[in-house]
Amino acid sequence: MTDNRVVRAENLTIRFTRKKMPDIVAARSVTLEVGEKETVALVGESGSGKTTMGRALVRLLRLNSGTLWFKDQNVTTIRGQSLRRYHSQAQLIFQDPFGSLNPFHTVEYHLQRPLMKLRGLSRRGAREAVLDLLAQVGLTPTVIYRGKYPHELSGGQRQRVAIARALAGEPAFVVADEPVSMLDVSLRAEILTLLESLQEQRHLSYLYITHDLASARYLAHRIAVMYGATIVEMAAADTVVRTPAHPYTRLLLAASVGSGAVALPETQSLAPDLSASRRGCAFAPRCPQVMDRCRVQAPKLVDIEPGHATACFLYHDGESRED
Ligand SMILES: Nc1ncnc2c1ncn2[C@@H]1O[C@H](COP(=O)(O)OP(=O)(O)OP(=O)(O)O)[C@@H](O)[C@H]1O
Ligand SMILES: [Mg+2]
Repeated sequence: MTDNRVVRAENLTIRFTRKKMPDIVAARSVTLEVGEKETVALVGESGSGKTTMGRALVRLLRLNSGTLWFKDQNVTTIRGQSLRRYHSQAQLIFQDPFGSLNPFHTVEYHLQRPLMKLRGLSRRGAREAVLDLLAQVGLTPTVIYRGKYPHELSGGQRQRVAIARALAGEPAFVVADEPVSMLDVSLRAEILTLLESLQEQRHLSYLYITHDLASARYLAHRIAVMYGATIVEMAAADTVVRTPAHPYTRLLLAASVGSGAVALPETQSLAPDLSASRRGCAFAPRCPQVMDRCRVQAPKLVDIEPGHATACFLYHDGESRED
């Protein structure tokens, strides 16, 4: 556990109900925390529940059960004014900067609104603050960039605007959901470096969502590996990469050698069971080391050494009561 936690989710469960289809449990009793000035990477393949967790942590989703803390405040069920205040403290950066910006509005418009709404600045004050934000994300000369429309910007510049917008309310916590995956490879490092320096200057805490273990290792202090709506392993970034414990993390690393990308093509068809009635470990159907009990009991995320937790019966006997 971290000192000075900023956000902590305890046993968070998110369930989606669908018409004439069984419910999906996209996060199943997930416990996760992010400390002050800490970056935690949430890594896992498509559909594992990463975005769901990210949206839940910034309270853009209803939390079905569990508790969410922001510093000392229980924000699980806050509404109205309190929720608006939390939304200025906890922001989200999306994968697709083009999709998240309105093509009919200028950069200034995108930044001015949150500055007025979340920071309570006057229109005039916000105009000044826009220039300041643009400088912080490296869009200079700022007076030129503030009048531009999204289509006049490159992908990297658009993502800088999206980052500036997320910072407008002076958040303490930012969820960055695959912020560089749609960018040209040559631009990715630049944006990650920008996120790093903003963290330093503004004491930010990040949840960095990615498929890409190499960038997780670069940016994050700790890595949480997600599979089938649960966290299966969590430790310092180097520990996860050098001494992975969970069979899924091991497969993930083996698949990413060389490319740095997550790809498990040969077993892709075995998507994890996200139904509410699932029993046992989510990874059991694909696990090379599966044991009988893995199919009926779900292992808890337990420390196997200080600061290194895994949810696997190969290492401990802890069974999750929530499942
Ligand atoms: N609003 C929703 N209604 C119903 N099901 C949903 C909803 N949002 C997500 N899901 C389902 O929840 C599961 C987890 O989705 P999520 O988007 O969190 O995964 P992810 O790990 O972010 O995947 P990716 O890497 O592709 O972005 C998926 O099966 C998805 O289809
Ligand atoms: Mg996602």
